[in-house]
Amino acid sequence: MVDELDPARIPRHIGIIMDGNGRWAGARGLERTAGHAAGEQSLFDTIDNCQSLGIEWLTVYAFSTENWSRPADEVEFLMAFNEGLLVRHRDEVAAKNIRLHFIGDMDDPRIPERVVARMAESEEKTKANTGMRVVFAFNYGGRNEIVNAMRTIALDVASGRLDPTKLDAELVSARLYVPEMPEPELIIRTSGEQRTSNFLLWQSAYSELVFTPVLWPDFDRPALVAAIAEYQQRRRRFGGVDEG
Ligand code: IPE
Ligand code: IPE
Ligand code: MG
Repeated sequence: MVDELDPARIPRHIGIIMDGNGRWAGARGLERTAGHAAGEQSLFDTIDNCQSLGIEWLTVYAFSTENWSRPADEVEFLMAFNEGLLVRHRDEVAAKNIRLHFIGDMDDPRIPERVVARMAESEEKTKANTGMRVVFAFNYGGRNEIVNAMRTIALDVASGRLDPTKLDAELVSARLYVPEMPEPELIIRTSGEQRTSNFLLWQSAYSELVFTPVLWPDFDRPALVAAIAEYQQRRRRFGGVDEG
């Protein structure tokens, strides 16, 4: 197996909180936005690396529901940047048989229409692809995702389509943005921060969290392999006890 990982314990789904772009730029005397631009290469290298390691799902946190509180010029940059990134990479991504998904509140009027259109188009263009799934969490918040799920459930209860006594965790999972998405076994956060910042709240109940000091623009294959290796050392108990 590549890179000395245990082939039997490769996570099916990895989530990544791509953090540290601003600090990467600041350390070089550059504008914060230069850090975001530098993160583009890390993102597409990471997609390739995950694909070659046999990871089936990769979810990347690109813009949170809280990121609107950043200075207007940075927000504006991030909107245009994320759109440009899709234009620059969608053909190569499609050629790799990757299917793209976007999770988040896309009805938010603050998102420029052309960005919404580009995301919808990218999802549509890759929907028949059968390879790795890459999920962009954009204007995403875990609380929002759960609230949305609850709203659809409440509407079904109010209209008599759903018996409220039948509500369970499985039903909530089925109302999340991408119902078929498996829960991530591993969530990686770069830049040394140790929190989830509203990422995949419902799905991360039993995820292993790996924090690396590496800043996102410096995140490379060895850093990814090290994070997976750390995950492979963990003993996942799910509330039970160790076997043997
Ligand atoms: C992550 O890098 C990218 C986004 C949140 C969009 P940051 O921009 O948060 O970088 P730091 O944390 O300020 O270094
Ligand atoms: C989380 O990073 C969001 C993304 C990576 C898109 P932030 O940099 O926004 O998170 P906080 O503010 O440090 O928690
Ligand atoms: Mg940050």
